[in-house]
Amino acid sequence: MAQGGVTMGWYPLFLNLEGKRCLVVGGGKVATRKALPLVGKGGVVTVVAPRVSEILERLGKEGKITLWKRPFAWSDLEGQDIVFAATDDPALNAAIAEEAQKRNILVNVSSSGNQGNFITPACLETEDLLLALSTKGKNPVRSATLKAWLWETFSEGKERIPRGNATCLSRALQLFPGGVNSPVRSFRAVGRYPVFIRYGKGSHVVDEDGKTYLDCIMSWGALILGHAHPRVAKALAEQVALGTSFGMNHPLEILLAEKIREHFPSIEALRMVNSGTEAVMSALRLARAATGRKKVLKFAGCYHGHVDALLVESGSGGLTFGIPSSLGVPEEYTHHTIVVPYNDLEATRKALESFGRELAAVIVEPVAGNMGVVLPHPEFLLLLRQYTEQYGALLIFDEVITGFRVSLSGYQGLCGIRPDLTILGKIAGGGLPFGVYGGKRELMRLVAPEGGVYQAGTLSGNPLATRAGYTTITVLEEDSAFYDVLAEKTRMITQGLREIAASFHLPLYVNAATGMLTPFFTSLPVVDTRTAFATDRGLYARFFQELLSRGVLVPPSPFEAWFLSGAHTSKDCERLLEAAEGAMRAMARDL
Ligand SMILES: Cc1ncc(COP(=O)(O)O)c(C=O)c1O
Repeated sequence: MAQGGVTMGWYPLFLNLEGKRCLVVGGGKVATRKALPLVGKGGVVTVVAPRVSEILERLGKEGKITLWKRPFAWSDLEGQDIVFAATDDPALNAAIAEEAQKRNILVNVSSSGNQGNFITPACLETEDLLLALSTKGKNPVRSATLKAWLWETFSEGKERIPRGNATCLSRALQLFPGGVNSPVRSFRAVGRYPVFIRYGKGSHVVDEDGKTYLDCIMSWGALILGHAHPRVAKALAEQVALGTSFGMNHPLEILLAEKIREHFPSIEALRMVNSGTEAVMSALRLARAATGRKKVLKFAGCYHGHVDALLVESGSGGLTFGIPSSLGVPEEYTHHTIVVPYNDLEATRKALESFGRELAAVIVEPVAGNMGVVLPHPEFLLLLRQYTEQYGALLIFDEVITGFRVSLSGYQGLCGIRPDLTILGKIAGGGLPFGVYGGKRELMRLVAPEGGVYQAGTLSGNPLATRAGYTTITVLEEDSAFYDVLAEKTRMITQGLREIAASFHLPLYVNAATGMLTPFFTSLPVVDTRTAFATDRGLYARFFQELLSRGVLVPPSPFEAWFLSGAHTSKDCERLLEAAEGAMRAMARDL
């Protein structure tokens, strides 16, 4: 394949050097020329050579690079992301290239384009990237043509990709309602303009202004292994090369479905879809078809996606009939929706006794995550199970957040209650668009083509999401201590936040389950929407701003869960608490 004069076998590589460990072997003119752009683009640069140029010497003194003034040793390659072999000994350069490639390190040999696995024409620098060429095919290149083509491509790209939070926002505002593709991203609840994320790695994200944040949003809980986990990224890269969607059956669907079934015994059969919303919508249709009933009962503060019938506000106190909480939802659509306060045993009993025989389903987040984290009263879910069985309604656990987060088998694995239908999403799709509804086999038989409940999807169960989900669950399974460690980190942060708030006399109540928590600025327990909405939103907005300015990104709303991942280290937790201490000190000063 020849592209615009580029000979087959040479592929452009865009190296984002931010935080990458770069080793330059050699201290002469060429090595200096290599080291300079690396430093300028945020690489963590080490130069190893017995003698180095004046420029390198100065960079070393200024602390911009690490200088090892000695001959190269093989152990120097350990932990490096990128190596530049730039000594004046071609044989040594070649040997370094060979060894680095064996270790899967990107390596560039300055004296020869045919060694190493990429080259870096000096002219191909951008503001924040180094444009390089992979030399996998080892074919000769007419460099003038190649550079011209890359310049052309690069300048097109530069024009296409907006850079900087402010530029992105002004362009996004022309394109998307509120400049966003999901409302919470607008940061309106905390009175600030939003950030645009350039990339994520592990527990951190970097925004379009180049600022790094410790991320406690983690794609709203979808990334339990952190950003770009090496196993997931590798699996996805392999899958992309094999095809991104077939619109046909493929074995990865089966592998992932078998894993889901193994961990969620209540799911005997399932259907894969593309989002939690879609899964909930389909499960409601199925529940209505299975029971021949129309009504559904949901709990105030539980979010089940933007399904028409479930976009309903709770009225004040007790039991209310649903009033749509979104324009564009006809009252007829929510007329059959009954809303009860979460954790209110009495109101729940009353509602079930009054409407139990008319109910197709009761849907609940077994641990609520969408009014902030709210834990279920010990009898609450049991009551739902007993009454739904008694009245022949289906019990639906929406485990879009809790599935594979609070344990490998979600909250149902911890509380021992078997729902009739379960909704999964987020983690089950490994960070790609995904959803599942599933449950008893006899119920799932009603879904087309076996039964008459129609539901379909072009991209449903697509190979990327299924591969990412399968890989993510496999990594979780392989680490038997994963959930204990995650629970410990959650405890450390929860306890730490409580102690810091107490030391500054700030009212703070923290609810938490494994890998998720919400600090509410109130001194009273938060058990439902009434108590959640009584918390101090202004204090949370200030806390958010103070944390953001200290490099910690938490949800831009007081009624969302903070999410932790396997990539959050103990150091990250300490950093978060240090930032929280600084933030609360500033807040207490102004109170
Ligand atoms: C419990 C719960 N159910 C359903 C959904 C909807 O999922 P999605 O955003 O993938 O449509 C969400 C989204 O956050 C959720 O938290």
